[in-house]
Amino acid sequence: MIGSLLVDNIGELVTNAPRDGVADPLGLRRDAALLVEDGEVAWIGPARYAPAADRRIDAGGAAVLPGFVDSHAHLVFAGDRAAEFAARMAGEPYTGGGIRTTVGATRAATDDELRANVRRLRDEAMRQGTTTIEIKSGYGLTIADEARSLRIAAEFTGDTTFLGAHVVPAEYADRPDDYVGLVCGPMLAAAAPHARWIDVFCERGAFDADHARAILACGQAAGLGVRVHANQLGPGPGVRLGVELGAASVDHCTHLSDADVDALAGSATVATLLPGAEFSTRSPYPDARRLLDAGVTVALATDCNPGSSYTSSMPFCLALAVREMGMTPAEAVWAATAGGAAALRRADVGVLRPGARADLTILDAPSHLHLAYRPGVPLIRQVLHNGVPQ
Ligand code: NIG
Ligand code: FE
Repeated sequence: MIGSLLVDNIGELVTNAPRDGVADPLGLRRDAALLVEDGEVAWIGPARYAPAADRRIDAGGAAVLPGFVDSHAHLVFAGDRAAEFAARMAGEPYTGGGIRTTVGATRAATDDELRANVRRLRDEAMRQGTTTIEIKSGYGLTIADEARSLRIAAEFTGDTTFLGAHVVPAEYADRPDDYVGLVCGPMLAAAAPHARWIDVFCERGAFDADHARAILACGQAAGLGVRVHANQLGPGPGVRLGVELGAASVDHCTHLSDADVDALAGSATVATLLPGAEFSTRSPYPDARRLLDAGVTVALATDCNPGSSYTSSMPFCLALAVREMGMTPAEAVWAATAGGAAALRRADVGVLRPGARADLTILDAPSHLHLAYRPGVPLIRQVLHNGVPQ
């Protein structure tokens, strides 16, 4: 029995649970306290009415917010692609071609090497305030390597995503239809027991609309929820396909037509923006303002992977979104917490209210504004995950 824990003397509490009739998506409370019992939030209220508890953390007037929900990360891989990054910064374009380099390294790695890499990146993310993370496969691309990637991912998160359709691997380069058949058949059968979601890289050079539709439909039939890598490198059918199939999220959304934005606005599909990818590929950022003004639900995530976005830092992505994508600091904080939860269709995280998971971060700052205002500064003082100080 861990007992109760009171987080007291909170100067500014972001709850993402606005009071009825108040136009305040962050649900801000001043001079608050929060009681944790059995890994859940048990009570929130004014600090002066705080109940007794077995233990107490004094937030010292700092800001407290829900732990970040990183709804898009590729953590199961081996090796890195630092030389590819250097070449890009010297003018080479990003094409996704380097994915096959990581596939080779991942296939050659042992289970323990892959597990250690996931743990390293998960711990790195947690130190930066991330308490929920989605993890994709997609660097195995054989039945055995995709299944083991997902088995390892499932040791760290319930939000595992089967991305066997990341690219067509070299050995199937001349027969992509056969690879789609493999993904929909025996690879999906081996992957599905370890996966909650299915994803496809729907992009020129990866999978076209017909292939993507076939793969996502097979995944749905196997009980998996849909997410799509869409419209990252150029305009394309991915966003509208995702909306049509009821995807929880379409991710990247960098090159959108008016029809794409309209489709998203009339749907329950979240647009997940991944500014680490544009930063690391020196590409134009997605226009978050356009999506928000159209009424689309926007999430922010890292896309952590060794090719296009080797960052595990949600605060970094949040700062980029404010500086480069037209989001206000409040919108970016919401998108990195409640938005990520919406992208994973989770009601228990990304929010602080009685019954929610006690996942939260105490900042070394008086306000959530400082996350974007003080970029690159380690502002995460303490993380609680399931109510346990990390
Ligand atoms: O989301 N775009 C496809 N997949 C990853 C990049 C993977 C890589 O370059 O290794 C992404 O950006
Ligand atoms: Fe990705």
